[in-house]
This record gives sequence, structure tokens and C-alpha cells, in this order.
Amino acid sequence: MRLINYGFLLLCSLIYLGCGPSTADVSETASNTESAPSLGAVYAPNFYIGAAVNRVQLDGTDSAGLAILEREFTSITPENVMKWENIQPEANRFEWDMADAYVELGEQQDMWIVGHTLVWHSQLPDYVKETTDPDQLRTYLEEHIRAVAGRYKGKIDGWDVLNEALNEDGSYRESVFYKVLGEQYIVDVFRLAQEVDPDAELYYNDYNLNNPEKREGAIRIAKLLQDNGVRIDGIGMQAHYNLNGPPISQVRNSIDAYAATGVKVMITELDLTVLPNPWDLEGAAVEQNFEESEMMNPYPGGLPDSVQIRLADRYEELFRLFLEKHEHITRVTFWGIHDNQSWLNGWPIRGRTNYPLLFDRQFKPKKAHERLMQLAANRD
Ligand code: XIL
Repeated sequence: MRLINYGFLLLCSLIYLGCGPSTADVSETASNTESAPSLGAVYAPNFYIGAAVNRVQLDGTDSAGLAILEREFTSITPENVMKWENIQPEANRFEWDMADAYVELGEQQDMWIVGHTLVWHSQLPDYVKETTDPDQLRTYLEEHIRAVAGRYKGKIDGWDVLNEALNEDGSYRESVFYKVLGEQYIVDVFRLAQEVDPDAELYYNDYNLNNPEKREGAIRIAKLLQDNGVRIDGIGMQAHYNLNGPPISQVRNSIDAYAATGVKVMITELDLTVLPNPWDLEGAAVEQNFEESEMMNPYPGGLPDSVQIRLADRYEELFRLFLEKHEHITRVTFWGIHDNQSWLNGWPIRGRTNYPLLFDRQFKPKKAHERLMQLAANRD
């Protein structure tokens, strides 16, 4: 459980930003000097800066990524190790090792530790997915939440209780949970999580929550819980964005709308793809084989400067908004640490070379990192 020393972090930032080298030197200094301030430190007065961590950082395979994590970030989210298929692959058989290592890392580094995710239709084992009996499904949900949230009680700071329960038009996704149990399952799982770990924050998390129709769906979920006397502390906007979209105004409108329902807002899975999107191609189904297609994988040997600059511009534009809305935003989490281990190298098309994060394949901060450091230095 994180006990953040804002005073110390702020002091470090102020000393550095006030008396240190000019802002133009910041990225070089950040990459070379152990004691230089980090992204996490300079944004600490406003919100946590998080990263998703995967098995490779926990088992020591990616020690360079782990070093970046420890230096630059103040919060962690488990990219995969706490998902149902990994933590309870068969009914009543739990695999705790990686999840334990994850929580231990967060405690050791005094980070804000996120649990991701208790209830999700994806990465869900067949024994749950194929359940048609409502009592059986309720039992699975209850046993899962009691076991997982119970084991890390007092250690996880906030749980993504429910992930991706909405369609793009704001209606409920026809997941096994909705099909078998109806809307009531949402109330039940939040109530249970609240009972099992009363001190953990509880979140609803989804993608495309900037989209106005889907926004209404998320607000409906927040109100459903509030009307039933069940706590929801925050809405997580995943933020798998690209260089052009979504429009900043849509993101702003969603942040305002969520804040107006009385919950905190988190940017939970930020990354910016720089590659062509198969869904934008007319008639292109993602199932089609785009692997090894040069058109879909234009930068296998490195990112051109012009695109590097667009990435930095886009990150800066987003962080300007996050700073503007900092009173509502408690955390901005990147979906990964460096480009080499981003899920976007393999999704939605396998075998591509993507550049969505702030650290490159040589583990060096990119231009976007420099810009975000400068932005923090120059904020009001
Ligand atoms: C992704 C992981 O990054 C991949 O490694 C995994 O293969 C699939 O899931 N929304 C979520 C995340 O909430 O859990 C997903 O993570 C990305 C989309």
C-alpha cells in the first residue's frame, strides 16, 4: 500500500526544475543521471504515473525494463498476471506466484498498486465462459472475488472490479455474465469487492470511453451502483489512442462528465499506435492476414523523425489536457514500459514493429518523454 511522500517528491522536482539545467537538457539528464527527476516525480503533485508490468519484469527477464519502472513510475498495473485465466485457470486451482511477486514489487517500491481485473469477459477460462446456470456462475464470481481480492486485502490500492462491460453504443456487452445474470451482476460484484476489501478503491474500466454513446453507458453503470448504495470510486479510461484520434474535446467531455457523477477519473492504459489500423481500411477484417505486409508494418527498422515528433506532439497535447483536469485525474498509466514489450507489436496484427510508449527499444527516453518533462516544468 502506497504511502506517498508528496512533499519529498515535490521538493525534488522543484529543486531540479528551479535550479537545474534548462529544460532543453532535461531528457539527456534524465537518461544519464541516476538522481535526475523522473516523470513520476515531476507529476507527483498532480497524479500518479503508472505502467503495466508483465511476467518479464517480474521474473527478471527484462531487467532493463524493471530499472526504468523503478526509476520513472509511481504506480503499477498487472498487464496479465492477475487475469482470471492466469490466476484461477481451473476452478479452485489458483496460481499465485506471479501475482504475489507483482504485489511485492509494488510494496517494495512504495507504488500505488492497481489490481486488474476481477471481472472481464476476456482472458476468462472456458469453465466460466461456458456456464449457463445462474447459481453456478454467481458462485464462481463470488469465490473468485473472495479469493483474489481477499488474498491482497490491504495491499491493492484500487481494483478494476469490472472491465469492458459495454458495447460501443453504450448498451451492455453480451458477456456470459450479462447473458446469464443480467445487469444485477454489476451491482453484485462491486458490492462483494467492497465487502472483501473495504479500503481498496473500486473502478469501472473500459476503452473508447471518450465516445459519447459509450460515455453514457459508463455513467449509467456509475449511477446504477450509486443508486444501489454500492461504492464506485473511479472510472478508468483505457486510452489506447492513435496519432490523430480521438479528438481532445471528446476526451475532455468524458472526463468532465465522469467527474460530474462524483467519481475520480483515471487514464489507465495509455499508448499511441503509430501504425495503420486495419479497421480503417475499407472491407478489411482484422482476421485477414496482414502479417508480413509492408503496408501495414511501415517502420520495421526505426521510426522516422517526422513521426517521432508527431508522437511527442500528441503526448504533449494529451498531457496538457490531463494537467488542465488534474483535480479529477488521480493516475495516468501507460500500457507498458518500453516499445519492445508493448502489446501493440502483436495486436491487432501479429509481428509488427510499433512505437507507442515513452521509452524506445534501447531503453532510452524518447522525444515524447522530454516533452512531458518540459511540460511539467512549465506548468502554472
Ligand atoms: C492485453 C495485454 O496487454 C496483452 O498482453 C494480452 O495478450 C491481452 O490483453 N484492455 C485491457 C487489457 O483491459 O487487459 C488488455 O491487455 C488490453 C485491452
